[in-house]
Amino acid sequence: MTDLLLGQILSFTGNPMAEGPGVARHSARGGVLVEAGRIAAVDEADELRRAHPDARVTDYGNALISAGFIDTHAHYPQTAMIASWGKRLIDWLESYTFPEEMRFADPDYAVDIAGRYFDLTLSMGTTTVCSYCTIHPESVDAFFSEAQRRDLRVFAGKTCMDRNAPDGLRDTPQSAYDDSKRLLEKWHGVGRASYVVTPRFSPTSTPDQLSVLGALWAEHPTCLMQTHLSEQTDEIAWVKALFPSARDYLDTYEAHGLLGPGGLYGHAIHLEPRERDRLREMDASLIHCPTSNTFIGSGLFDMDGLSAAGHRIGLATDTGGGSSFSMLRTMAAAYEIAQLRHRALHPSELWWLATQGAARALRADDRIGNLAPGMEADLVVIDLASTPAIEQRAARANDLWDAVFPTIMMGDDRAVKAVWIAGRPLADPD
Ligand code: GUN
Ligand code: ZN
Repeated sequence: MTDLLLGQILSFTGNPMAEGPGVARHSARGGVLVEAGRIAAVDEADELRRAHPDARVTDYGNALISAGFIDTHAHYPQTAMIASWGKRLIDWLESYTFPEEMRFADPDYAVDIAGRYFDLTLSMGTTTVCSYCTIHPESVDAFFSEAQRRDLRVFAGKTCMDRNAPDGLRDTPQSAYDDSKRLLEKWHGVGRASYVVTPRFSPTSTPDQLSVLGALWAEHPTCLMQTHLSEQTDEIAWVKALFPSARDYLDTYEAHGLLGPGGLYGHAIHLEPRERDRLREMDASLIHCPTSNTFIGSGLFDMDGLSAAGHRIGLATDTGGGSSFSMLRTMAAAYEIAQLRHRALHPSELWWLATQGAARALRADDRIGNLAPGMEADLVVIDLASTPAIEQRAARANDLWDAVFPTIMMGDDRAVKAVWIAGRPLADPD
């Protein structure tokens, strides 16, 4: 079956953060041809209709068809405790996060929350996530099997912690290595799943644990590695006390084989000059989590300086430290944080960061994150007039970006008109 989706089309031929908004491609009346789970062509609507008269047509009218959103850092086990009040990072982890993650010892609970999480993220137009699980191997199986049922391209790994976490939420260096290796062998490259080596962060791993996970990553270089870096100043002081001989926070990873091109470093707010230089040299990915950074009170990510220096940057919700599952809300928060640092991110930059830029951060931009022939057909269709407030503002728009920006700033799941996964429409994204 060949499908032809019609509407406004938005894609990218380059990185607008480096090359400007001119690298965005827009058609006011275009089409995306989908065949066998992949995009076969992107062109003007009339052209595609003529060339493919037998294709099944779905006409989305004036709605905007884009690559689906990609969330490069989330904690699916924190779904049920999102928006928990009044704490900062360390006491937030202890008061809310760890007790909730403890519940994932029950595999039925893990399956229940994984399913709920994917239902929520899909309703927001997010077609790929890169998630932490909990220390329990069952939480990883639950995540990947629920993703597999939905045919989603996903990234995740077992969170490893062998200190500074409560009883019942600690593994050991050996069990972290063994469990991670077994899960990696079970899931990595199976269907659309990718395993991610996942030490939570330096305060909850001993040097021994960091070392064995560095070794595991070296043995499986096609895997990504994800962790947290320099999110809050108290956390950084704690890391320095725990690792007195480390040059800086990044060095606690670097010294244990956990710095490399496939590394995803969540937050990266309070970086020292050496850390910035090393991350850039390695072409590692910095993951910006703006709703989390304001919600937990962490600080203002230096999007302008880091993107100008050529860093690879992904955008993410950090659910449930982040206060939303929606990448639209996340783009709005990224805009606001950049404004507080005197940089107005262009809507093309925001959209790119949530699609192709995010795919680039996950080193999956050859498969997902853009509308182009050969790419996997994970798509979102966005209504640019989804609420009365957005509609009356968009009615005044005199170009594409002026029409898109109100949805970026004020949109949510109501803007998501349709979602396609691997070339098939979701029954009802709402
Ligand atoms: N640092 C270590 N663990 C976490 C987490 O679960 N959320 C956030 N925001 N930061 C962390
Ligand atoms: Zn996180």
